[in-house]
Amino acid sequence: MPYNYPDPGDRVTAKMISSISDPDRWDAEEQRILSSLRSELRQIEPPRVVLDVGAGIGRLTRALGDLIIAADLLEPDLARARRAKDFIKATAPQLSANVYTVESELPEQTYDLVLLSHVIQHLLPREAQRLVAFSADRCRPGGLFYLATTLASPDRSNWRLASIDESGHWTERAVSEDLFSKQVAKPVLGTLPVREFSQVELARALRAVGIELLAVLPFHETSLGGALTEAPGAFRDIAMIGRKHQPQGSRSRGRER
Ligand SMILES: C[S@@+](CC[C@H](N)C(=O)[O-])C[C@H]1O[C@@H](n2cnc3c(N)ncnc32)[C@H](O)[C@@H]1O
Repeated sequence: MPYNYPDPGDRVTAKMISSISDPDRWDAEEQRILSSLRSELRQIEPPRVVLDVGAGIGRLTRALGDLIIAADLLEPDLARARRAKDFIKATAPQLSANVYTVESELPEQTYDLVLLSHVIQHLLPREAQRLVAFSADRCRPGGLFYLATTLASPDRSNWRLASIDESGHWTERAVSEDLFSKQVAKPVLGTLPVREFSQVELARALRAVGIELLAVLPFHETSLGGALTEAPGAFRDIAMIGRKHQPQGSRSRGRER
């Protein structure tokens, strides 16, 4: 059965962003994180090649387009994959980009940078773990790994369902892990399961797959207001930039697997 991302057109996410008091700051905060990633990426000698796992419409590949020569995008939702193809062609025509909908069709190679942005929070826990391992495996030794996802704060529960209510407002409710998993296994379009991770568990998960952390960057402070209002100092998202372990003495870029 073809996969359908449960938030077609990112309506639920867009509604959440538009409900905060300063939506421009939302984008600006992610840009700040991407600037850090760009600085790290510049330190890798060109030509640089990227794998964007769970690419959506290719937003992140596009944002790095001037620093890379080629990108493979993995996006299992066929409609989103088609949009990614068109979006990259229109906005970064210089890039040699391929969009794949099935993991096994990806070329047998490793990459200078692997992106896994805002994907694992929508998956079953075991699938999230597998996808992190798969993505890290595709990062070349010495290459960069970028993970961004939703961050748990102490007074929020870890499993949520987000949707748009009857009056057109963004709404999110805490649920049990069991209900979250049922929702992921049997998706309902318009209801987006969102898991929040602790910083410690993410750091541990990355270390377990050979990623050494270079930067841990919480972003999207919840005091931005609107639907997110919470104590200052709490963050909705977190990004981790890491480097794939490079065994001593191995200096090759080794893109062939
Ligand atoms: C919230 S979007 C993030 C898109 C993009 N990475 C970004 O940051 O803008 C999550 C994407 O992950 C994709 N996805 C869901 N399950 C996946 C899986 N098992 N492997 C790869 N991608 C997946 C969805 O189809 C969706 O496009």
